[in-house]
Amino acid sequence: MPDAVYVQDAFARIADRYVLTNHVLSCGMDIWWRKIVTARIRKWRPTRLLDVASGTGDLALEIQDQCPQCEVIASDFCAEMLAHAARQGIAKTIVADALRLPFRDGEFDVVTVAFGLRNMADYPAALREMRRVLKSSGRLVILDFSLPTGILRTPYRLYLHHVLPRLAGWLTGQKDAYEYLGGSIEQFPSGHAMTELLENCGFAETSATPLTGGVVTIYEGSKL
Ligand SMILES: C[S@@+](CC[C@H](N)C(=O)[O-])C[C@H]1O[C@@H](n2cnc3c(N)ncnc32)[C@H](O)[C@@H]1O
Repeated sequence: MPDAVYVQDAFARIADRYVLTNHVLSCGMDIWWRKIVTARIRKWRPTRLLDVASGTGDLALEIQDQCPQCEVIASDFCAEMLAHAARQGIAKTIVADALRLPFRDGEFDVVTVAFGLRNMADYPAALREMRRVLKSSGRLVILDFSLPTGILRTPYRLYLHHVLPRLAGWLTGQKDAYEYLGGSIEQFPSGHAMTELLENCGFAETSATPLTGGVVTIYEGSKL
């Protein structure tokens, strides 16, 4: 699993170019993925939501805009990334490690984590911590990369390991941070392996919804 010191440093180095690089590398699809997640959450009418590993706050901002009744809190252990979230207009940001969230048990209706869990040093510990801060019946939503199955798999892996690091290195000057990305996606549990992990960490009503041919997947789980 990823090394926390390396991850924190890597995101601090790319923070200024993170949003633009995401849009270029995903051909703008990252905007659509966050809108799909937000549309699901909106139907639940949450009043208090925590976006863990919020980074520059793109998902938190979309939720804040689409769910005006909801208090949205963005947390991340990289102050440089979170500074962008505050500048983008997230009302409440908190520098915090996802493995030790500074919240009481049962404070949130929804916890979200987009492209963040994969970077954490201990997935089960992080998932249990997110469950702890959820209310009973609260929901966890994870958006993260997965590997496509079928004919897209080989070309996508070629893109991920050979094209993407060069392009991102050119955009950010930090090629190594994007070489790390491909390896982290290869090792991250996806599909049934992720829903099983969620169930082992105490979540019920789990689901996995692949988007864009399986390039990303939305996972959900409830705290019953
Ligand atoms: C790829 S960015 C995702 C940012 C944002 N959620 C998005 O959708 O663009 C991953 C973020 O996870 C954060 N992160 C990784 N491990 C963390 C941890 N243990 N605690 C808090 N934040 C963490 C990093 O600092 C980084 O900002």
